[in-house]
Amino acid sequence: MLASTVIVTTLWCFCLLHPTSGQDCPSRQEIQGSLKQVQKLLSAHEASYLQSLRNLKKKINLLQSNVGKQTTRAINSTCPKLDVPINGRKLGKSHSVGHEVHFLCDPGYELVGSESRVCQESLTWSGQQTTCRDINECASSPCLNGGTCVDEVNQFSCICAKGWSGATCQSPVPTFFVTITNTSAATSPATAAASTLPAATTGPFVRPSRCTIVQGTTHCTCEPGYTISGRDSNTCTDIDECELFHNGQAGRLCLHACVNTPGGYRCSCPVGYNVTRDGRSCKDIDECATRQNNCTKDQMCINTYGGFQCVRVDCPKIPNATYVKTSPMRCERNPCPVDNKACSQTPNSFSYHYLAVVSNLSAPRVMFRVSALRPMGDTLRFSLLGGRQARRHFTVQRSDRVTGQLMLVSPVQGPATLEAEVEMSELERRVQLGRYITKVTMFVSQYEF
Ligand SMILES: *[C@@H]1O[C@H](CO)[C@@H](O)[C@H](O)[C@H]1NC(C)=O
Ligand SMILES: *[C@@H]1O[C@H](CO)[C@@H](O)[C@H](O)[C@H]1NC(C)=O
Ligand SMILES: *[C@@H]1O[C@H](CO)[C@@H](O)[C@H](O)[C@H]1NC(C)=O
Ligand SMILES: *[C@@H]1O[C@H](CO)[C@@H](O)[C@H](O)[C@H]1NC(C)=O
Ligand SMILES: *[C@@H]1O[C@H](CO)[C@@H](O)[C@H](O)[C@H]1NC(C)=O
Ligand SMILES: *[C@@H]1O[C@H](CO)[C@@H](O)[C@H](O)[C@H]1NC(C)=O
Repeated sequence: MLASTVIVTTLWCFCLLHPTSGQDCPSRQEIQGSLKQVQKLLSAHEASYLQSLRNLKKKINLLQSNVGKQTTRAINSTCPKLDVPINGRKLGKSHSVGHEVHFLCDPGYELVGSESRVCQESLTWSGQQTTCRDINECASSPCLNGGTCVDEVNQFSCICAKGWSGATCQSPVPTFFVTITNTSAATSPATAAASTLPAATTGPFVRPSRCTIVQGTTHCTCEPGYTISGRDSNTCTDIDECELFHNGQAGRLCLHACVNTPGGYRCSCPVGYNVTRDGRSCKDIDECATRQNNCTKDQMCINTYGGFQCVRVDCPKIPNATYVKTSPMRCERNPCPVDNKACSQTPNSFSYHYLAVVSNLSAPRVMFRVSALRPMGDTLRFSLLGGRQARRHFTVQRSDRVTGQLMLVSPVQGPATLEAEVEMSELERRVQLGRYITKVTMFVSQYEF
């Protein structure tokens, strides 16, 4: 098409430029006729050109939309993995388009964000990220009078400012500041202190107050830990913090015992324990490490919670067999005379173990394991020996092919000493190869710390 346009144009120009040349130029009418024909040709070409362009465009669009659809289908039709919120749960595992997951929070936690989220066509999750927030019971500032709120799961507690008590520090029992109207007793701080000095002779738990007069009104204050007592605004008496925090909040001040002191308090621990650095709880003193024990040379010192035990391992006396100590905690049978069946059926060894535990340990729990080092037979059996006392507190279970474990099955209240014997017997084709006894002694303390 472009070629024919060029030819026509050339022909036309040539004749315009050289009207007097010797060549026979076609007449005007002839030119116009052929031009019309060329024009017709051109518009036909143009039409078909535009038509094929349109077709091409259509095809490209179709291709594009197909490709778009295919990419969405080909790339994962799942949304990104959603994490399980800490202190909560996620219900629903499917992450594909259209599926929903739900979230729950553990008791004491509140859900923040979306409770349910849907995996959308865009492969993103609807809603907001879900978290479980500890319900802040302190948010409403429940502790009054300067008390400090301590948020705990599902509850709160108040640590009251000195001089306030009660669950929310609402009780103004001990008052540091007392307003007394129009009294003649107090004049100025200096004289007030001086005038009340005689009253302060009753001991360190009573101190003089400090009073000031403001616009005819007397304000008397006490040192920290003291409060104005009764009607007499001139004297301050010690606040018994131990008594004050005893009701309902026992243990909050001290793990064991509280001792009231002038203007304060301190915690004390039972014998065998020392107050910890924070002053509130108790830690066991290791008498065995600190030579605070009186165990003799042939005894072993076993540190227990709140004390110590001196133990001595003596090998058992059993008919038909003799035992010798092979280590401080182990006795082994001397070789049996040939053909002495009674001897060969006695235990091959006794081992002794001592455990120190605190009172009221939660149960069930594994207390001790007995494991065979190099078993020779085809079978190992583990069993619990000992009387009814042992059976009431313990069982023996197998934990793997060569290991048995002594389990505490019920909490024990101390102070107590429990004994249990675990027997391991080795067999080969049902014939006993040997018996090994492990004696476990458990010293249970009086306290849970
Ligand atoms: C598609 O899913 C697979 C696992 O199912 C993942 O490894 C891959 O990264 C995902 N691809 C895209 C583009 O999301
Ligand atoms: C203080 O008490 C006296 C008499 O006891 C009285 O005359 C005076 O008005 C009182 N002052 C005030 C501020 O209440
Ligand atoms: C107990 O603690 C006090 C002070 O922390 C320390 O002086 C003392 O030696 C401790 N007693 C024992 C037996 O550890
Ligand atoms: C060790 O001392 C305790 C008292 O602290 C006493 O009861 C016990 O008999 C003493 N033991 C020995 C072996 O001296
Ligand atoms: C084992 O000991 C008992 C009691 O001491 C004795 O009567 C018995 O004869 C002994 N058996 C053997 C095989 O030595
Ligand atoms: C023993 O522990 C349980 C749970 O820890 C507790 O509820 C119980 O009061 C404790 N018993 C004693 C006697 O302290």
